[in-house]
Amino acid sequence: MTHPVVLVERPAEGVALVRINRPEARNALNMEVRKLIAQHLTEQADEATVRCIVLTGNDKAFAAGADIKEMSGLGSIEMLQRGTLKLWSTIAGCPKPVIAAVSGFALGGGCELAMTCDIIIAGESARFGQPEVKIGIIPGGGGTQRLTRAVGKFKAMRYILTGDLFSAREAYEMGLVSELVPDAEVEKRAIDMAKQIAELPPLAIEMAKEAVLRGVDAALDTGLALETKAIQLLFSSQDQKEGMAAFIEKRKPKFTGK
Ligand code: HXC
Repeated sequence: MTHPVVLVERPAEGVALVRINRPEARNALNMEVRKLIAQHLTEQADEATVRCIVLTGNDKAFAAGADIKEMSGLGSIEMLQRGTLKLWSTIAGCPKPVIAAVSGFALGGGCELAMTCDIIIAGESARFGQPEVKIGIIPGGGGTQRLTRAVGKFKAMRYILTGDLFSAREAYEMGLVSELVPDAEVEKRAIDMAKQIAELPPLAIEMAKEAVLRGVDAALDTGLALETKAIQLLFSSQDQKEGMAAFIEKRKPKFTGK
């Protein structure tokens, strides 16, 4: 019997959870899984009632990388035609916050997938890595770029050039993991944080995310200009008026997303 390889759940108001569901293959990312993740994330981001998305796997694996069995016989042109960069760009470009809840293995394309998210919550026994050199390739879903930007050249080189795995604690200490939690609490913590974000004014959240992401690869002046325009624009929102009025009147704000 076949089962859906990617599931969508609504664990709390304002929160969508997208779950990779190929436990028999340690959630290896075949093309079906990749396309479904991109499709579900796009659909959930388009849904007005969804304010934050959690992306997760199961307790053994977030994802053990690209599906090696599917990829092994391919040639260059077939790899080009798979269009994986476009699929991952869809995720990285999601306007709403995406939290990766990582338990078990996040390797190769799985580590790269987590790095397309905005926040990474990991369980204490999670294992990360870019082991691609061990099978004759290199990280091809952003690993050489995103890992280096996240942890710096010398840590990135240390792991990319050896293919060694690293623990969630090392990932946390290097700045790749946002929060380290006991294994049993990974999903709950990610959902709680998503709920917290979902209650905040969505225009401010969207602009904060955009300013961080666009600024990371821009010159400081350009990033600062973008940030300034974004905060100026928010002064036209009802939620800015409401948020500040509620502070002054010592009451809880009622945000409408307008
Ligand atoms: C296909 C995979 C897989 C993968 C695991 N499986 N990882 N199948 N692609 N990436 C399958 C195994 O073949 C096995 O199937 C089943 O899942 C369970 O795996 P085991 O190895 O028995 O489990 P375990 O001993 O717990 O070890 C887990 C593991 C190991 C450490 C994650 O499976 C592993 O090293 N996997 C490969 C990790 C990797 O190299 N990732 C990078 C891929 S390249 P059967 O049928 O035997 O039960 C990549 C490049 C991206 O990501 C670039 C794209 C452009």
